[in-house]
Amino acid sequence: MIVVFLSPPGGGKGTQAPRLARQIGAEHLSTGVIFRSMYEANDPLGIKAHDEYWGKGQLCPDGITIPLVEKKLAELEGAVLDGFPRNIAQAEALDRMVKVDAVVSLSITEQTALERLGYRAECKACNITYGLANKPLNKGECNSCHGQLNMRNDDADAAIIRQRFEQYETKTKLLLEYYRKNGNLHEIDGNQDPERVYVDILRALRLDA
Ligand code: AP5
Ligand code: MG
Repeated sequence: MIVVFLSPPGGGKGTQAPRLARQIGAEHLSTGVIFRSMYEANDPLGIKAHDEYWGKGQLCPDGITIPLVEKKLAELEGAVLDGFPRNIAQAEALDRMVKVDAVVSLSITEQTALERLGYRAECKACNITYGLANKPLNKGECNSCHGQLNMRNDDADAAIIRQRFEQYETKTKLLLEYYRKNGNLHEIDGNQDPERVYVDILRALRLDA
């Protein structure tokens, strides 16, 4: 099964997509995570993607992003895609690679994105995301592995968060119409409590029985 998650920054892709992936026995595939890992590993392409694109709140070029996803997807049976596609060219490329079974769109306002991302902290070892709605038991420490929690550098500046939101509004939002026409778009209110959002996702995908 191939499920796509679309949302503005802070919409809840990284909170909901791994949970759904576990439930349906698919891999969670996040292009944002891939780019950050490449950067942290000092990969030259990862450094270029950070310095010229994602570190400034801009989308990375399709010529870099599409082949990365194609390579990963070729190794997988099923996937929950978090943050890919983000524009029409990527959606068309994905359609050439696999059959997309369902698309989940989580909507939030720019104000909510700014509030949430100002508090987000991540554990790199466990890939768990903390925030206002799920604070760590001890500040700065992962509940699961007790590792140090980190803030993403594209969250550290409100101007970059606004830039990411603008990229969503002008490029990614066009995909709502693209998938609506295909008849597999499920639009969920991402402003709700995370548990409520997950229940709505399961119901939309008819996995709640
Ligand atoms: P990416 O890592 O995907 O970042 P993003 O799209 O900006 O989304 P975020 O990860 O910020 O938010 P999220 O929706 O995952 O929210 P989360 O669940 O963490 O991409 C980063 C960059 O890489 C892009 O800007 C781009 O440059 C590049 N890139 C990636 N993919 C690309 C592509 N396909 N093409 C080109 N470039 C690409 O939640 C956020 C916070 O809110 C957390 O603290 C969480 O705990 C909290 N929270 C979540 N849900 C709720 C809720 N319901 N109520 C209250 N709090 C909540
Ligand atoms: Mg994310």
